[in-house]
Amino acid sequence: MKAEQLKLGPMDNFSYVVWDTHLREAAVIDPAWQPKKIEDFLQKEKLALKLLLLTHAHPDHVNAARYFLDKDKALTLTMHKNDLFLLGDDIKPLNLIKDNDELVLGRVKIKVIHTPGHTPGSVSYVAGGCVFTGDTLFVGGCGRVDLPGSDPKALRISLLKLAALSGETTLYPGHSYNGNSSTIGVQKECNIYMKLAAKSEAEFLKAAA
Ligand SMILES: [Fe+2]
Repeated sequence: MKAEQLKLGPMDNFSYVVWDTHLREAAVIDPAWQPKKIEDFLQKEKLALKLLLLTHAHPDHVNAARYFLDKDKALTLTMHKNDLFLLGDDIKPLNLIKDNDELVLGRVKIKVIHTPGHTPGSVSYVAGGCVFTGDTLFVGGCGRVDLPGSDPKALRISLLKLAALSGETTLYPGHSYNGNSSTIGVQKECNIYMKLAAKSEAEFLKAAA
């Protein structure tokens, strides 16, 4: 498996292209802002787009989904049902996923971890030694919990779930805020929110809320 990080749009968002290097089947995680740039990358690498995956349904992570769905009627938008309230009714077809589901991309298995807190339907995707965390975990930070559907207690539990991954796992966040990538191990050591999440609920809530 290979992954390409594409920094797109005015809010330092990352879209990701993940692909099976043998079969050249690709997933786009968080299709947003500049679909032509994503498409150019797919064409340059001769990749067939098979999956559109959302970490969550905030507009800055999904606003190019319609472009791909309109072009290829075989595509669906993969997301957690708890974020449907953030989407208009006209984005379909949907493929609703839940915690522990496994998605197949050629020979690559993509595991779904439900990581609510920033939004109720936030998920992280684990594949090929990498985790794509959307707005749940950033390099040196975590997602906002003052938005509709946010839940700081749930975010703490989600950070603990991510902390349980191997320390070697490469972290690919949803925005370029303090850095573009890291590892789970480094974040457990250096990210104040990861540290407070492990320490106590009260201290985490004081820092995050
Ligand atoms: Fe978000």
